[in-house]
Formats: sequence, C-alpha cells, structure tokens
Amino acid sequence: MKTVITYGTFDLFHVGHIRLLKRLSALGDKLIVGISSDEFNALKGKSSFYSYEERAEIVESCRYVDEVFPEHNWQQKRSDIERFNASIFAIGDDWEGKFDELKDLCEVVYLPRTEDISTTEIKQNLSALNGQDLDKIETSLHEVIEIVKTLSIK
Ligand code: CTP
Repeated sequence: MKTVITYGTFDLFHVGHIRLLKRLSALGDKLIVGISSDEFNALKGKSSFYSYEERAEIVESCRYVDEVFPEHNWQQKRSDIERFNASIFAIGDDWEGKFDELKDLCEVVYLPRTEDISTTEIKQNLSALNGQDLDKIETSLHEVIEIVKTLSIK
C-alpha cells in the first residue's frame, strides 16, 4: 500500500485543484490531504472564503481523495508522514525545493501546476466584477433620478 500525502488551503475549489489531486492519486494507492486550518491560514496572512469545515467537506468528497485532516502549523509534516506511513510527499511546483528536507523520510515530488488558474486570481476577478456591477447600478440609479426629475417638472 503506497500512501501519498499533500497539503493546501483548497479555497474556492477549482479545476487546478482537481487536476492536481487526480495526478497525486495516480502516484499511489491512497491519497491523504492536509487542509490548512483557518488559524494556520491567519498565521500565513491568508483568509479563505470558505471555512476549514467547508473546505474539508469539499475536498473529502472528491473521488481522488481518501482522507483529509487539518494542518495547524508548518512543523507537523514530519509527524504526519510517520503517522500516515506516507511513502510520497507531493505538492504543486509553486513549492519547488521548499520541502526537500523531508527526503530522509519519504520521496518528495513537485508536480507542475495547471496554468492560468488560482484562488487568488478567482478572488481578484470576482471583486473586479463586483466593482463593474456597482458602476452599472450607479449609472442606472442616475438615469432613474433624471427620469423622476423630468416627471416632477411636468
Ligand atoms: N495547484 C495547482 N494548479 C493550480 C492551482 C493550485 O496544481 N492552478 C495546486 C498547488 O500547487 C497546491 C494545491 O493545488 O499543491 C493547493 O493549492 P492552493 O494554494 O490551495 O491553491 P491556489 O489556487 O494556488 O491558491 P492561492 O492563489 O491562494 O495560492
């Protein structure tokens, strides 16, 4: 039984996450995913749209994932690898070289990210969209005010 372990925030679950989890599960027989707790995200200066419980429920329901657990700090990876008896630690290549110190415990693999998609980009697109919507609403309101003014003059 070959166990693969990975970590991430997995907020606003997207196709880049799915493709990574699919490729990770193909590396072994069992895929275990450590999901950043809300407190750990705060420590990293991140805040997720979905809570830990929601992100864990979403990732756990993915067909490529066998088990999820919370990641509370940077230091726990070594004990997690031992606890789950993982033979492969794998993660997207935005982390290339960052976890090489785990190589004495298991194989460490960095997989290419899916291009042109990230939670940060989705959040930026959504907030730009909200701005545009607000502009449209403002314009429409001005038009309504002009119409009301015309009507009251008559
Ligand atoms: N990932 C990926 N391809 C993407 C986005 C993410 O393979 N396009 C991988 C990351 O490399 C990581 C895992 O998915 O191994 C979880 O990444 P996470 O940081 O939660 O997702 P991002 O979309 O990168 O979020 P953010 O923009 O907040 O960093």
